[in-house]
Amino acid sequence: MRFFSKLPRAKAYLKLSELLMIFLKILSTKLQAGEKTIAWEAAFSERLGSTGALCLSRARLALFFLLKNLGLPAGSEIIMTPLTIADMVNAVRWAKLKPVFCDLGVNTYNIDYRMLRQLITPRTRILFITHLNGLATDMDEIMAIARQHSLIVIEDASQALGAAFKGKTLGTFGLAGIFSLSFMKTCCTLFGGMIISDDRELLKKIRQETRNFPAPGRVSLLKETIRNIIIYLATNRFVFSLGTYYFIKFSGRLVAKFIKSNPPAELTDEPPKKLLCSYTDCQAELGLKILKRLSAEDGQRIKNVEALTAALSGEAKKYLPLILPETKNVFWRLPFQTNDPINFQKYLLKNYIDSASTNLIVATEEEAFKEYAGQPAPNAQLAHQTIFLPVHSSFSANDMRFLARILNNYTGQNRA
Ligand SMILES: Cc1ncc(COP(=O)(O)O)c(C=O)c1O
Repeated sequence: MRFFSKLPRAKAYLKLSELLMIFLKILSTKLQAGEKTIAWEAAFSERLGSTGALCLSRARLALFFLLKNLGLPAGSEIIMTPLTIADMVNAVRWAKLKPVFCDLGVNTYNIDYRMLRQLITPRTRILFITHLNGLATDMDEIMAIARQHSLIVIEDASQALGAAFKGKTLGTFGLAGIFSLSFMKTCCTLFGGMIISDDRELLKKIRQETRNFPAPGRVSLLKETIRNIIIYLATNRFVFSLGTYYFIKFSGRLVAKFIKSNPPAELTDEPPKKLLCSYTDCQAELGLKILKRLSAEDGQRIKNVEALTAALSGEAKKYLPLILPETKNVFWRLPFQTNDPINFQKYLLKNYIDSASTNLIVATEEEAFKEYAGQPAPNAQLAHQTIFLPVHSSFSANDMRFLARILNNYTGQNRA
């Protein structure tokens, strides 16, 4: 019985002191994007090795304004992953472009390069590459395809901030990279969407277009802070072990409702008004603090995955994703494929391990996006059979060995 060391599925990367501080700042300072936001953009782009950055209120808006300012003919095609959040598909629509979904590779969570080649038509203009779960895509493949067909590459490294391919940071390969700074991300600043790019003209255009956005509502920022504080407290190991764990065990549905951050998939024609707000300096201050410890947190999570993998049986390892050579993967989440996700989660929970299922949609199977469905995406659909294991940077090697033992038992009984 693990009295005080049950494992929560995830933990926020913000400290309680930072959350309390921003709570006070939201109440007491003018909410605006000023000098600190400029400093945050500069620090972020410098860290990633790009020459420019711009911070908006959401990654989905970052994509929208990027696409809108490329001057492409309406109906131009953008090839993207179907495993996404609905508004990333909508962002393409808002920019009057056409999403074309490309399946993922088998157990890689990266796009399927072969299918990608087949989907290219004379109308294709953009490859939108999302590095899911902190796992790097083979950017040599992508850049070769892009060069061959004169396509623009935009990366979404929202789940892979700090990851790299052949030593080059993800987000810096193509025209631009975008990063979500929203709930539970490794660099969560309540919300936010960073664009990095070496194309200063493009960034300038987007800055001009978005500079007069109103400040976000104080109440909405406070609400987001409170949500983070609740998560922080509920996933504290002591509180989790004595309280939250039992709450999840007996009322899992309520918990799922509380943490669900994306509404059901629906088609929209323009960005929701409430998202069209500026970023703020108090969020930028938070970002600057997190950036200083980001590599240490990533390093600890990477070590956790190594400790877990080292203790896993050959059989259990089969259910982990394939890792590409010459990649640095930051494992924002560690996916485990199973044929029986519901019972697998129950089994883990019985053994004091909380886990999560995906919060993304598979766009090709959504009624709302039927008109774009095109090719089936069986590997992306496996997202429904993916369970995310707890590997947060605050967990210890001991925790990982415990997790490995439980997984070895499960797969040893041929139950995965
Ligand atoms: C890969 C990816 N892209 C984009 C987003 C959207 O981010 P935002 O909420 O900042 O628009 C998310 C958020 O979950 C994500 O995981």
